[in-house]
Amino acid sequence: MGTKKISLTGIKPTGMPHLGNYLGAIKPALEMANSDDFEGYYFIADYHSLTTVHKAETLKEYIYEVAATWLALGLDPKKVTLYQQSHIPEIMEMNWITSCFTAKGLMNRAHAYKAIVQDNEERKRDSDHGVNMGTYTYPVLMASDILFLKSNVVPVGADQLQHIEIARDIASSFNYVYGDIFTLPEAKVQEGDLVPGLDGRKMSKSYDNHIPLFLPEKKLKKLINKIKTDSSEPSVPKNPEDSIIFDFYKLFATKEQIVDLDAWFRRGIGWGEAKLELFNVINDHLKGPREIYNELMADKSKIDKILEEGAARVRPKAQEFLIEVKKSIGVL
Ligand code: TRP
Repeated sequence: MGTKKISLTGIKPTGMPHLGNYLGAIKPALEMANSDDFEGYYFIADYHSLTTVHKAETLKEYIYEVAATWLALGLDPKKVTLYQQSHIPEIMEMNWITSCFTAKGLMNRAHAYKAIVQDNEERKRDSDHGVNMGTYTYPVLMASDILFLKSNVVPVGADQLQHIEIARDIASSFNYVYGDIFTLPEAKVQEGDLVPGLDGRKMSKSYDNHIPLFLPEKKLKKLINKIKTDSSEPSVPKNPEDSIIFDFYKLFATKEQIVDLDAWFRRGIGWGEAKLELFNVINDHLKGPREIYNELMADKSKIDKILEEGAARVRPKAQEFLIEVKKSIGVL
């Protein structure tokens, strides 16, 4: 401990993740989190969700879902500190301080905000329609999340790269005035597998072609049966390379299973049989985590305890560093 580099990442709670999130982001992040090379911190960015989720029960459920998902998939809270952003009020103090070193123009140029403005303009609405200050200053809070723990590495998806750049900019503006107080973070882009959705396009909630991770078996089977196929007879040889079912299968199956299914396709396979093979291989993968997920969601006190322990580990660090920052700006 101590000399290890700090790796930190935030997960915005927005509902149960899907298979695409798992293979594209969660799995590579877990591999990094569980490695011994870093001191890892994973937190639930609940205040970031508050920019859009304005229903108390929904937000609460999302927070538990995201915590249960990561724990079920193998995040070891003894190795990695898991906490909830809003449990660390020091981040909010940090947020004000960092906001005073954030050029307004920097926020105007943030992709997420610009996309909303552009959409509003296309719909001939006021350009700031639906934009609250939380949405606008989202990147400042993200910088505060990162800087208060002196994070060295931030594993993120490519869509978050600009936010890490912004955090570096803010840290540099501050350090330019007060010396080397903030650590400049580096982004580490998580490149997992690109997962197709049920219709062959990228899996995404917004396309409604996704498979939520912890569906009950029956529902999982039903969704897999929805994958579009042509009407060719079972006896007709099929090219596995043209099939989403096969693409999917490869993401979960062992080498031997892949070779076997490839041969079966070329001999002729019924689509129903192919879908059943796919269901089995995905289900084998998710069965264990699904059980753990359901247990955690049925008795949330375990999650509460893990998050409390996480906050207890993080808060003293936050308080200590905040004193240093406050001294440097002259309020202490
Ligand atoms: N904005 C990130 C996302 O939507 C979540 C996030 C919040 C985050 N704070 C962070 C990620 C700090 C990394 C570091 O995915």
